[in-house]
Amino acid sequence: MSNEGQKDYWNGAAGETWVESQDRLDRLLAPFSDAAIERAEIKSGDRVVDVGCGCGTTSAALAACGAAVWGIDISAPMLAHAKGRFKGTANLAFSQTDASTQNFTPDHQLLFSRFGVMFFDDPAGAFKNLRAALTPEGKLVFVCWQEAAKNQWLSIAGRAVQPFLPQPATPAPAPNGPDPFAFADTNYVTGILNRSGFRDIHFESLTPKLHLADDLDGAIRFQTRVGPLARVLAELHGEARDKALDAARSALAAHLTSEGLKLSSAAWMVTAKAA
Ligand SMILES: C[S@@+](CC[C@H](N)C(=O)[O-])C[C@H]1O[C@@H](n2cnc3c(N)ncnc32)[C@H](O)[C@@H]1O
Repeated sequence: MSNEGQKDYWNGAAGETWVESQDRLDRLLAPFSDAAIERAEIKSGDRVVDVGCGCGTTSAALAACGAAVWGIDISAPMLAHAKGRFKGTANLAFSQTDASTQNFTPDHQLLFSRFGVMFFDDPAGAFKNLRAALTPEGKLVFVCWQEAAKNQWLSIAGRAVQPFLPQPATPAPAPNGPDPFAFADTNYVTGILNRSGFRDIHFESLTPKLHLADDLDGAIRFQTRVGPLARVLAELHGEARDKALDAARSALAAHLTSEGLKLSSAAWMVTAKAA
């Protein structure tokens, strides 16, 4: 359970891209973290671990609610950005820490995450380790994506360019391997959390329409940096890349309205208790 692949991934181009696109991503992802922070019902002085905190936005939002927040992540570039943005903010600390192996003290009231818990090589081992950070009254609140097909904002362009991938196509990720959509199946997630000692596990579906961009150029600019389209394009060159981009543009164009590109999204807000 080394998470080496994910460490390389988030410390490489992906981490840099998240830093560069932080503003845009925060605006897109705000509906999910707003709902989860509200559900967390933070009390002043609560000790919180923000798991996979990335560029630190949710950590700062939790601290603004009165919590003492420890944002942990494996990505050096994202953490450097978080530390720069929130330097001097009271009750907020960040560290480069693998959530699945850190030796936690059991004095936290909340484990929180916005889309940062689907990337463990051994999810049940990681959640068991995380649970050890909680007091007996402690709770877990996180958001994770439902299946790709329900997340048009991510999947439309990515699907459109699949036919342009060189053969044999990149192997599909293992159904529950470390992946943004690894926690789409509620039975699978319930099993992980049960095995890790969590109780009272609940799922609430969050399905806001997301404003991807005002126009096609904006959408393509964004999606060639982050998400499935960006991953496929990284494998293509020359004419194949141009054709793939045209296909992505046409697929997105079909959804353009007078309000820009507003596409479906679906996430689970998952809550559970430590004991
Ligand atoms: C999709 S990003 C979400 C970042 C941030 N929570 C946000 O919403 O902007 C997933 C994050 O999880 C982090 N991550 C992945 N595996 C991790 C691990 N084992 N321990 C801590 N963080 C991890 C990544 O480095 C990345 O920052």
